[in-house]
Amino acid sequence: MLKRKDLLGIQDISREEILEILDTAESFQEVSTRPIKKVPTLRGKTIINLFFEASTRTRTSFEIAGKRLSADVVNISASTSSISKGETLIDTARTLDAMAADCVVIRHSASGAPHTLSRLTHASIINGGDGAHEHPTQALLDAYIIRKRKGRLNDLKVAIIGDIAHSRVARSNVHLLTKFGTQVWLCSAPTLMPPGVEKIVCDRSEFLHVTHSMDQAVKQADVVMMLRVQFERMSESFFPSVREYFRYYGLTRERAERAKPDVIIMHPGPINRGVEIATDVADGPYSVILDQVSAGVAVRMAILFLLLGS
Ligand code: CP
Repeated sequence: MLKRKDLLGIQDISREEILEILDTAESFQEVSTRPIKKVPTLRGKTIINLFFEASTRTRTSFEIAGKRLSADVVNISASTSSISKGETLIDTARTLDAMAADCVVIRHSASGAPHTLSRLTHASIINGGDGAHEHPTQALLDAYIIRKRKGRLNDLKVAIIGDIAHSRVARSNVHLLTKFGTQVWLCSAPTLMPPGVEKIVCDRSEFLHVTHSMDQAVKQADVVMMLRVQFERMSESFFPSVREYFRYYGLTRERAERAKPDVIIMHPGPINRGVEIATDVADGPYSVILDQVSAGVAVRMAILFLLLGS
């Protein structure tokens, strides 16, 4: 079991804990192939999905993961809860704690919202994405796929390309991959690269590289991870046009072919086809995008089990 109450980010968890989660996820992958996809591991536990931002993959896979472990799962969205009447996050947290929830999965637009919840509740808190800060369960499922396809998490070249400025997925992946000694190349338009991004992992800066050249990032990469342009977080224009963005930072087949012949193409989803990735690449032979979605269920089962299953 993990010797912690919460999973708030990748920054503060160890390599051993990450490997424990990935190994446990491997053993849970098989449950999803059974005719009856259920084990009694978390019977009697209550998990609340508290989502203040839109989600398809994270919320649904946490719900499926909880149900496959026989937990009771409750979904709360901001628009249909008393949050829409002005109730604060703190009062919402205290209300859920009074109902004896065992675990709350939270997604919130404010960085640090899961950390606030953690201090106020007895329940285990899992960060389902907080602002541009972290999305730890996404990085864990990405690591699960990378390890499965490449056989290791060290000594790889991983190119993370797209809207780095608004991406919690990029931050969590940088923390995770550099912990294992993989070379991470961050690539974006200059306006979409946060200043001082190298300081994310100042103690492991030799593993982090920043470039604005897609060809440099992709060349000889083992893994290319494309990121969505997060238009919903932009109050101003960060590039002249979508057409121009795709021309310089879109992953086309020609660009993908500059990576290693056995490259895998990843994307956390949702995809903006024709903006950051061409359709023939997203649906092509190197793409593992739907494998990432499948792994999301097994990895989230592992996290719920390791936090709540004692
Ligand atoms: N990757 C990811 O977090 O997707 P959702 O926003 O659909 O949950």
